[in-house]
Amino acid sequence: MDIFFDRKSVRKYTNEEVKDEDLNYILRSAMSAPTAKNTRCYSFIVIKDKTTHAEIAKRHEAAQMILQAPLAILVVGDESLAYNSYFPQDCSAATENILLAAVAKGYGAVWCGVYSNEKRQKALEEFFKLPPNIRAFSLVIIGKSADDTPAKNGWDETKIKYERWQ
Ligand SMILES: Cc1cc2nc3c(=O)[nH]c(=O)nc-3n(C[C@H](O)[C@H](O)[C@H](O)COP(=O)(O)O)c2cc1C
Repeated sequence: MDIFFDRKSVRKYTNEEVKDEDLNYILRSAMSAPTAKNTRCYSFIVIKDKTTHAEIAKRHEAAQMILQAPLAILVVGDESLAYNSYFPQDCSAATENILLAAVAKGYGAVWCGVYSNEKRQKALEEFFKLPPNIRAFSLVIIGKSADDTPAKNGWDETKIKYERWQ
């Protein structure tokens, strides 16, 4: 298993829970991501409650798989703390670490975009009662995968340039 090449967006899950020790590893991985000037301007809302999952599904049309998942993490960023308005990059790095850590621990996950979709952002920021400086950034849904399709092969030599564009 290779966490980079076996990662894929998983949208179907078994009934198995995410173990607390694995959740702890996943959150530690998120907090090991780089942030500009080391502001660590992210926070993570761990959501296991099924009623809350249903409320999220009403507010994010492309996150309906949350209704079958045991766990979601809402990654949020403090834009007042971020250096140079870099909070989206900081939160992206943390989000990707969560995806890869989930694979490392034998789970599947999907990144559901929140920032910069104004409608989703507003709905979730209101629901979670986020303070004015805190932006809802991404929703990561995690569970044991019930999807055995292979990960995509992203390798494409045409994406690589050497020294200059041409
Ligand atoms: C910023 C961002 C937003 C995304 N939003 C959603 C989403 O709302 N719902 C969803 O099912 N997948 C979402 N995805 C997952 C992409 O659809 C997926 O990564 C892409 O199709 C490539 O597939 P793969 O992850 O299996 O390689 C998002 C991914 C990114 C990076």
